[in-house]
Amino acid sequence: MHGNVIVGQSGGPTSVINSSLVGVYKTAKDRGAKKVYGMLHGIKGLLDRQYVDLSEHIKSDLDIDLLKRTPSSFLGSCRFKLPEIKEGKEVYDKIFEILTELDIEAFFYIGGNDSMDTIKKLSDYAILISSDIKFMGVPKTIDNDLACTDHTPGFGSAAKYIAAATKEIIRDGLVYDYPVITILEIMGRNAGWLTAATALSKGEDCEGVDMIFLPEVAFDIDKFMAKIKGLNKNGKSMVIAVSEGIKVADGRYVFELTDHVEFVDAFGHKQLQGSAKFLADKISNELGVKTRAIELSTLQRCASHMTSRVDITEAFQVGGAAVKAAFEGDTGKVVVLERVSEDPYICTTDTQDVHKIANVEKKVPLEWITENGTFVSEDLIHYIRPLIQAELSPVMVDGLPRHLRLDL
Ligand code: F6P
Repeated sequence: MHGNVIVGQSGGPTSVINSSLVGVYKTAKDRGAKKVYGMLHGIKGLLDRQYVDLSEHIKSDLDIDLLKRTPSSFLGSCRFKLPEIKEGKEVYDKIFEILTELDIEAFFYIGGNDSMDTIKKLSDYAILISSDIKFMGVPKTIDNDLACTDHTPGFGSAAKYIAAATKEIIRDGLVYDYPVITILEIMGRNAGWLTAATALSKGEDCEGVDMIFLPEVAFDIDKFMAKIKGLNKNGKSMVIAVSEGIKVADGRYVFELTDHVEFVDAFGHKQLQGSAKFLADKISNELGVKTRAIELSTLQRCASHMTSRVDITEAFQVGGAAVKAAFEGDTGKVVVLERVSEDPYICTTDTQDVHKIANVEKKVPLEWITENGTFVSEDLIHYIRPLIQAELSPVMVDGLPRHLRLDL
């Protein structure tokens, strides 16, 4: 490697995405890259020539330690869809002109299935114009919905936070001598992996959630209400987890059944928000019971004070593996994780063709959801548990976790 490399972050943030950034940065430097540039706000910012020389912002080992523990995307993010190659040649020409100006030999993009669309199109275009620049995807998403990989960096830490928060909410939710029904709304779009993590709350010190509803199974409101009514007869307080993406049989999201503001991103994804509130209000109205709707919302993807050490370590590894692969000549690939042993848990990295991963959503298999659709199987709990293990303490300053920040 004689030239420079560039790295960007794209899509929804996670609490360990900067560990992947450090993995790219350190490995590229250790393997001889002259400069490591960071695009600001991903490919969208690069098109406006917004980038930084990362060495000017990561100056010491302490900065590296802080950056690993800093939530969200240090370089800023975007939800920007590149045009189809035949419709937007000028966009691609501009990107390659900028990359050539910067003497870029390898381009790394840390993101989920939408962001991998960018790697797919840029690597395809590189072949078309016989460019030697290598394009590699570095996986991340709390949603865990990337194909071809055992799991995605970011998921384990979000799952750990969700399971821990659920335990705390259950303690609080069962405190009164009259019934309270708490509905928890968890992110994950059209995949229920994260919502399933609420099942990990159950243990010898916690009752666990009463029901779990994933988007993989059509949500039947009448059956849901009948279940609640049945349980409520005994005056039972309950904590119920629902995915933000639960849909009724005709394909509408549950939150769309009530007044809502429609916001759609460049990839056509609606902002999913409000299912818990809708269900809690319905229960209160029909049963006259006290309810509470809790959206974990962005808390679940930025809780860097509660990351999983397994997750943060793997996030670093996938960044490093992407650099190694690109420097050895790979392009148009995404680094994936392969679980090679269950006990002890061991994962290794490999690479897969980006065409198999871009824009594909990996859902929870139906055999990992109970037949009545109201809980998840032991196999799913067993799959998630190793990913939430061990901790990495925040660097505390004046009573609070310290972060590394870039003026965007
Ligand atoms: O893709 C990750 C994710 O956090 C989803 O779980 C969620 O639906 C979405 O991003 C929210 O995106 P935004 O932050 O753009 O509203």
